Amino acid sequence: MAEFKKADGIVDWLDQRLAVKSFMKVMMTQYWIPKKINFLWAMGVILLTMFAILFITGLLLVMYYKPDVALAFDSVNKTIMQEVEYGWLWRHMHGVAASVVFLVMYIHMFTGIYYGSYKRGREMIWISGMLLFVLFSAEAFSGYMLPWGQMSYWAAMVITNLFGGIPFIGPELVEWIRGDYAVGDATLNRFFMLHVCLLPIVVIAVIAFHFYSLRFPHVNNEISEELDFDLEAEKYLAGQKKESKVIAFWPDFLCKDIFYICLFMIFYFYLVCFHYDFAMDPINFDPANALKTPPHIYPEWYFLWSYEILRGFSYEIGLACFGIAQVIFFVLPFLDRSDVVAPAHKRGAFMAWFWVLLLDMIILTIYGKLPPVGINNNIATIASVLFLLLLIVILPVITIMERKAKK
Ligand code: HEM
Repeated sequence: MAEFKKADGIVDWLDQRLAVKSFMKVMMTQYWIPKKINFLWAMGVILLTMFAILFITGLLLVMYYKPDVALAFDSVNKTIMQEVEYGWLWRHMHGVAASVVFLVMYIHMFTGIYYGSYKRGREMIWISGMLLFVLFSAEAFSGYMLPWGQMSYWAAMVITNLFGGIPFIGPELVEWIRGDYAVGDATLNRFFMLHVCLLPIVVIAVIAFHFYSLRFPHVNNEISEELDFDLEAEKYLAGQKKESKVIAFWPDFLCKDIFYICLFMIFYFYLVCFHYDFAMDPINFDPANALKTPPHIYPEWYFLWSYEILRGFSYEIGLACFGIAQVIFFVLPFLDRSDVVAPAHKRGAFMAWFWVLLLDMIILTIYGKLPPVGINNNIATIASVLFLLLLIVILPVITIMERKAKK
């Protein structure tokens, strides 16, 4: 048994039992971040803040929400929105946060791609990040179902139907997911459990893993310079803070991040107060009706690009391409065959590849919201084929050429 002496304060008391000082050193005061980073490196901590907002507002909403097809719609639109004090505010904060978290996640992902932060020992950071993206997607989908409006119901019908296209087990799988032959009370109950219990627990665990995976390879920097962190840390600890190329996660990095969080909060609360409707489809203010299909069913903006890939082809091919689009970013570190870690503007063809990919995903998003008629269909097919080619063929080819040119 370890030796315990009389503590000289609360921190010392905790330190003797939980080694909090060592923990703070390893994860905060001696966790080194490169100096050469810009505001894009604040996105990770902004994401963490958004998750905290989603968690807290979600706890307040769940006190009044009723996961029952006969009561769900009124519990949201009457009880929470009209009767509970500030219920409308918690709902708007939750809905807007659910939407902007994807905007920040896309910026965070594309920052990683631009600076090559998924390579040279950072593969697990990328993979755990992609896992978070998939988990947040599942959270968003299951949450969208809860108000039990027209879009909730029909989006659940469309998405669960997709699993029916899986060979051999499709129809049984759809029934198993729904808990019934059609989307109904059993489906709402299980998606409620996923949304408020299982998925948040897994998200918290994966966020912890994402942070842990950053600890050894360290965060990348604006010029993708490979730093000797031990040497730079020594300089910092010896008081040569100006000469050192690193800063401490706490207080230096987080203090800067708090400034960016404040700026972001201005934008976020502006949306919450004046444009909360952008995160809420007007059709979802009609109660779910299994007998009345809405004229045009589409998902929230952040799923539109992959939805458009689904619509860009015939059913079976579209489903297969949609499946590939969901997982392709996981293997990005292995599709990029070059060992060059540098910002895209120093990588020639990669720079062009990056901007074409981004533009293509924006086109897919815009057309994903339009009805699939006439020219829209052709654009969807071309943009979807281009998306798959960019990742599966063009990226490996240009990065192999980059590797050969370096030799
Ligand atoms: C809730 C979701 C997420 C949280 C809370 C989060 C948090 C963070 C934090 C705090 C950092 C370090 C600082 C920074 O670079 O911003 C980071 C870095 C990173 N994250 Fe995430 N992240 C999330 C989602 C994602 C996603 C979806 C991806 C993409 C697949 C991703 C990939 C990365 C990469 C590659 C880095 C290293 C950046 C570098 O070395 O410069 N993360 N993340």
